[in-house]
Amino acid sequence: MQERIAVVTGANAGLGYQTTRALAQKGYRVVMACRNETKAAKAREELLAEAPAGAIEVLRLDQSEPDSIRSFVDSFARRHGRLDLLANNAGIVGLPLSRNSVGHELQMATNYLGVFALTGLLLPLFRGDVPGRIVNVGSLAHRQGKMDLDDLNWETGEYKPMGAYGRSKLAVMAWTLELDARLRAAGSSVMALSAHPGFAATEIGTNNPNPMINPQNPVGKWFQNQVRRFIPTAEEAARPTLHAACSDNVQGGEYHGPGGFMEIGGAPAPAKINPKARDAAMRERLWTLSEELTGVRYLSD
Ligand SMILES: NC(=O)c1ccc[n+]([C@@H]2O[C@H](COP(=O)([O-])OP(=O)(O)OC[C@H]3O[C@@H](n4cnc5c(N)ncnc54)[C@H](OP(=O)(O)O)[C@@H]3O)[C@@H](O)[C@H]2O)c1
Repeated sequence: MQERIAVVTGANAGLGYQTTRALAQKGYRVVMACRNETKAAKAREELLAEAPAGAIEVLRLDQSEPDSIRSFVDSFARRHGRLDLLANNAGIVGLPLSRNSVGHELQMATNYLGVFALTGLLLPLFRGDVPGRIVNVGSLAHRQGKMDLDDLNWETGEYKPMGAYGRSKLAVMAWTLELDARLRAAGSSVMALSAHPGFAATEIGTNNPNPMINPQNPVGKWFQNQVRRFIPTAEEAARPTLHAACSDNVQGGEYHGPGGFMEIGGAPAPAKINPKARDAAMRERLWTLSEELTGVRYLSD
């Protein structure tokens, strides 16, 4: 059997690191798609101490930048030419309004538009005769998300950092459902699912101006140390992603999260989807808009 190849985005920290670790232990060759090569090289070294030599490599990807996405896909295709599993994990949360080089709001650019583009460009590398999977990491926050397809990038509406996070994750949920439906309609061997971790005290609050979220801030550090005792570790919180990626008992279009109280911790189980993500007309409009904004077109007539 040919070695299975996985790409994990944002693999140098938090849930992506734990996802990489577990996939390597399961025998995948894992490509860590990371924006900071120094951090990624350090993380790879730590991971290689546990995993078979050579099973993990790093390729640069800044998921918020269209040029970086295209150059990642070119390098990956040249190196490997095929893909079995894409774990779209990288994400940012709650930052003040900022934009990427083409003017897209940064949380939308990183958490959704970049993922839409990366997935479309990598899709031809999945093998037609072998089952493949795309797992998109969502968030409980998608349930508070408000979609505005006339202002996806916060050009006219009053920007709210957590509102932008919720909208970006609602877009991930709606697009995952649409992606799986379009893959099924095309007779593809690839299925698309989403997963959320509940909560975990990772590095996700770093650079966040809210001192309670930022682990670099003494207040945030104190708060996270208190909270850490009650919420899952990054290793535990990565389990829904791994379940969606590896279990034989999942179907395309499903959404998995921790099955315990309020979906914060516990063994992976089907999770609650915001009904807005199921709106077929919205999903179709979102897809077309995403193609226009990214210039990446796939699974469209
Ligand atoms: N932790 C939670 O409680 C929680 C809850 C719900 C959902 N999530 C979701 O889980 C996923 C992983 O988050 P985490 O908690 O593990 O956070 P984390 O520790 O901050 O890890 C996030 C990873 O994403 C990378 N990343 C961010 N922007 C990127 C970009 N433009 N290009 C490439 N990589 C980028 C980061 O790289 P750098 O190291 O270079 O910053 C890091 O490797 C995210 O999608 C997040 O929204 C987390």
